Amino acid sequence: MAVKRILLGVTGGIAAYKSAELVRLLKKSGHEVRVVMTRGAEAFVTPLTFQALSGEPVRTSLLDPEAESGMGHIELAKWADQIVIAPASADFIARLAQGMADDLLTTLCCATEAPIAVAPAMNQAMWSNGRTQRNIALLESDPQICLWGPDQGAQACGDTGPGRMLEPAALHDLVDGNAQGALSGRRVIITAGPTREPIDPVRYISNHSSGKMGYALAAAARAAGAEVILVSGPVSISQPAGVEVRGVMTAQDMLQEAGRAVDEGCDLFIATAAVADYRPDSCAGDKIKKSDESMNLSLVRNPDTLATIAAREDAPFTVGFAAETRDVEHYALDKLTRKKLNMIVANDVSAPGLGFNSDDNAVTVLWSQGRQSIGPAPKAVLAQRLIALIAEQLTDNAGPTGAF
Ligand code: PMT
Repeated sequence: MAVKRILLGVTGGIAAYKSAELVRLLKKSGHEVRVVMTRGAEAFVTPLTFQALSGEPVRTSLLDPEAESGMGHIELAKWADQIVIAPASADFIARLAQGMADDLLTTLCCATEAPIAVAPAMNQAMWSNGRTQRNIALLESDPQICLWGPDQGAQACGDTGPGRMLEPAALHDLVDGNAQGALSGRRVIITAGPTREPIDPVRYISNHSSGKMGYALAAAARAAGAEVILVSGPVSISQPAGVEVRGVMTAQDMLQEAGRAVDEGCDLFIATAAVADYRPDSCAGDKIKKSDESMNLSLVRNPDTLATIAAREDAPFTVGFAAETRDVEHYALDKLTRKKLNMIVANDVSAPGLGFNSDDNAVTVLWSQGRQSIGPAPKAVLAQRLIALIAEQLTDNAGPTGAF
């Protein structure tokens, strides 16, 4: 982990008190930290708190002759390797999205060439508001900016929902594992969501995959600079900004669409999709009428997209997921070897609140030279750490292994 010069921007919100802990954690990891506060932030925490924790003077004003005679704002913008805005209020997000420079923090964001990570924190209704979401979409389409969070859950105002700032430990991990730029120039193809295998015109076989894990990985890979194609089964979540989504329905469609996307060029293939292993051997032309008799469905095996891509002569770096409810690592290692993958993400889906159709996940990544556990964490956070790890291995790795 490289030591970084981090400029922490604190804006006005109750979560500002948590940023004091973030400064402590970043300093403990050896990073240099300088804090800039907006006027709103000063209503919640004093500059003295951040000065004591960072060991550096805290900047609060753009037009401050005394502070400017030390390290001027342009110098400060150039000093930073990484800007982190935590908490980022709805007001600050709106001003950043419009490219305003009406206080020190927005001016620094305009003047810096460093990546800017934004950790939103606000009431759930403010987060869901259409104007906030339009501003968020603008930030998501900006290659210099990446969003860290928000999380969801109980809020200081008594509401429950999305808008909580990520916990300081999660933000600290994101700074350490930050993958910005790590996949620039790479073409990444990700499968996500479930497949649906039709029984008749109104019924199908499927599973509980929501697509959240795959979509979070697509957003993280995009933030890391990659061109990203998402081959997605039917889901009802929104498309990550800057990512091309190619929709499919069945396992056979997924194989065909993923193969076509890889033919167009692919450096990294990540399979998060929960593909139905079997499909009905035929689909009835009309709705099957019920009778008093029991009914047998005849199923045939579906093609395996991931194994097919990994077996190609021009195979990209391949990463599979293994969703298991017991002997998780044992089965994951078997898939790593059998499907000749570079890495496998072992996903224990037996724990409540993790895995299928949840906002959080916990995984153990296995590859020939190592293993790393990540989470439990929100899928967005986990995805960024996963992309950082995969990017590291992609750079180091000479060719497929799959062997232990
Ligand atoms: O979508 P979410 O609700 O966010 O949930 C995320 C998840 C739990 C679906 C995800 O994290 C996960 O674990 N995905 C793997 C699902 C799975 O059941 O994998 P598997 O063990 O059946 O398959 C192993 C690997 O081969 C997977 O990478 C799978 O995408 C791939 N595969 C499997 C069968 C098949 N016919 N084609 C494939 O490409």
